[in-house]
Amino acid sequence: MFIDVVTLFPEMFPGPLAGSITGRALSAGLADMRVHDLREWTHDAHRTADDRPFGGGAGMVMTPGPIFEALDDVVGADDAGVVLMTPAGTPFDQEIAKDLAARPQMVIICGRYEGVDERVRGRLTHAVSVGDFVLTGGELPAMIIIDAVLRLVPGVLGDEDSAPSDSFYNGLLDCPHYTRPAVFRGMAVPDVLRRGDHGEVRRWRRKEALRRTRALRPDLLTRAQLSDEDKALLREIEEEERERTQ
Ligand SMILES: C[S@@+](CC[C@H](N)C(=O)[O-])C[C@H]1O[C@@H](n2cnc3c(N)ncnc32)[C@H](O)[C@@H]1O
Repeated sequence: MFIDVVTLFPEMFPGPLAGSITGRALSAGLADMRVHDLREWTHDAHRTADDRPFGGGAGMVMTPGPIFEALDDVVGADDAGVVLMTPAGTPFDQEIAKDLAARPQMVIICGRYEGVDERVRGRLTHAVSVGDFVLTGGELPAMIIIDAVLRLVPGVLGDEDSAPSDSFYNGLLDCPHYTRPAVFRGMAVPDVLRRGDHGEVRRWRRKEALRRTRALRPDLLTRAQLSDEDKALLREIEEEERERTQ
């Protein structure tokens, strides 16, 4: 897929994306990331991309002109994802990552200052927030989106099973994981994981994913598609919790 980033700070890229799995994916050409300096689409000697807000108030606003022109030039595919990073957006999640990964192109606009002129929203497929806090610019959020999307591009993860077992992929948090040593500072790995019964291990993992999701993110559980086995496991968990608190 093509990933295009439109930013006032192109020197911030690839940044952490150059390392590890994402770095290898980019070097191997599994995705082609192109970083564009928004000032290439300005037309004055100072290369101005922002202006004072109508109505007054603090801060500057990114003008629509350079952003519209950048999108005119950069958006190639009909079904490209055009994504604005903004705290006033839909919370980013795995469903949005899957949607973007399925497209041939993703164009990300990084805001700065007070953000972008509202008329830019008319050019978007997504306005996305990475959390209920305000960062200085859209570059770090863009890197988060790119990392999450790259993990879903076929061939990027060595083990093709890794993404589907991650948290959120199927609507639940991931189960707990353990590695050697079997006993560490008196804390033992659950026996079931060491007995080598794959059916038992699968059931334990599903049950612990359900237990963790129920405890930490009950909102996910209400939306998840649960099988009959899941419902039975949840009843077992509820019974165990009742016994524990009695
Ligand atoms: C200082 S912020 C602007 C905040 C804006 N005035 C508001 O309150 O919604 C500058 C830029 O950082 C990016 N940004 C900051 N926080 C973000 C978040 N939580 N999610 C996504 N982008 C964010 C956006 O691109 C935003 O335009």
